[in-house]
Amino acid sequence: MKIHMLLIMTFFTFGFLDKVVSNPHPFEAIFNFGDSLSDTGNFLASGAILFPFIGKLPYGETFFRHATGRCSDGRLVIDFIAEAYGLPYLPPYLKLTKGQSIHHGVNFAVAGATALDSEFFIKKGIGKIMWTNDSLNIQLEWFKKLKPSLCTTKQDCDSYFKRALFLVGEIGGNDYNYAAFVGGNITQLFANVPLVVEGIIKATSALIDEGAVELVVPGNLPIGCSAVYLTIFRSQNKEIYDNHGCLKAFNAFAQYHNKQLNLALETLRHKYPHARIIYADYYGAALRFFHEPGHFGFIGSLRACCGGGGPLNFNNSARCGHIGSKACANPSTHANWDGIHLTEAAYRHIAKSLIDGPFSNPPFKSSPFKI
Ligand SMILES: *[C@@H]1O[C@H](CO)[C@@H](O)[C@H](O)[C@H]1NC(C)=O
Ligand SMILES: *[C@@H]1O[C@H](CO)[C@@H](O)[C@H](O)[C@H]1NC(C)=O
Ligand SMILES: *[C@@H]1O[C@H](CO)[C@@H](O)[C@H](O)[C@H]1NC(C)=O
Repeated sequence: MKIHMLLIMTFFTFGFLDKVVSNPHPFEAIFNFGDSLSDTGNFLASGAILFPFIGKLPYGETFFRHATGRCSDGRLVIDFIAEAYGLPYLPPYLKLTKGQSIHHGVNFAVAGATALDSEFFIKKGIGKIMWTNDSLNIQLEWFKKLKPSLCTTKQDCDSYFKRALFLVGEIGGNDYNYAAFVGGNITQLFANVPLVVEGIIKATSALIDEGAVELVVPGNLPIGCSAVYLTIFRSQNKEIYDNHGCLKAFNAFAQYHNKQLNLALETLRHKYPHARIIYADYYGAALRFFHEPGHFGFIGSLRACCGGGGPLNFNNSARCGHIGSKACANPSTHANWDGIHLTEAAYRHIAKSLIDGPFSNPPFKSSPFKI
């Protein structure tokens, strides 16, 4: 009996050690592309002309205790992913200094960035409201420019990138936001989906051609539950809302984008069977905040923590950081930070549900660290 127990214990101990020892750091580096959901300082470094408040408190108040250029009170999904794999927070590309170590990865995401090139929006006459022209393609060019400082020979690059995680997004949300915020109706948004999805897929393919084998492509959030959409498209007509107070049509739109993205990713997996292309279901992960806010410690999840008044505390004339705006006392009680972006607390739940499941498909590589 005793020997039996010992054997079982030995088995379990070795099984556990084996997993941790053989995979202490599943990734050596992370490279991230995207927009404000994952920008850790590029937009701020580029001047942040259309949203200077990003460079001031209360942005950054929760964890860093100063503004870092992150569009949140604290850490973002990408920060929690880095933590989970025992890697340092990604340095923003536009802030790299000579001699700075980039071995563990770089962040190319820029707040306001689009999946489509800025010319597309400039031609439509909405270039003026774009926070940045640093679209996904520009970010990809930055990566290619930086590549010789990361690795040299093809063999060297292949072996390094094999141990790197590439995140393509979330990106595409702004392509729709810009069109919606200037009064575009939802029919016009639907018309842009094939182009936006194509842009994301092209960038993903280009990264695989560069040597990436482990990639994460997130979908769109439930934008029908976001304070900015709820404010702009507010109506007395109760029919347009679901049971949780979200705009049915815009959530259906986000799901449509995600469905098209998923179909395209499936095609990509057949084209590149050696690559692991993970879809990150931001929609499903975030929808839980609106269905069961209490479960996540949120007191109502539609209202923004930081803003200048109005029913959901989103006021376009007094956005978070503006004179006349105010942040709630404890951001972790809110899912929505500034009307558009989420709080650190919300991002932590999303990151956890991607890494530990079930909102990624196929699952992330298991990590020895916990978020
Ligand atoms: C984007 O490019 C256009 C055209 O070159 C320029 O007018 C605009 O100022 C640029 N926007 C930003 C945010 O840099
Ligand atoms: C949306 O806008 C287009 C082009 O301006 C117009 O033809 C269409 O009727 C509009 N659709 C709705 C549902 O308002
Ligand atoms: C929005 O902000 C403006 C400018 O500070 C202010 O005049 C207005 O009353 C605010 N609106 C609401 C609904 O709080």
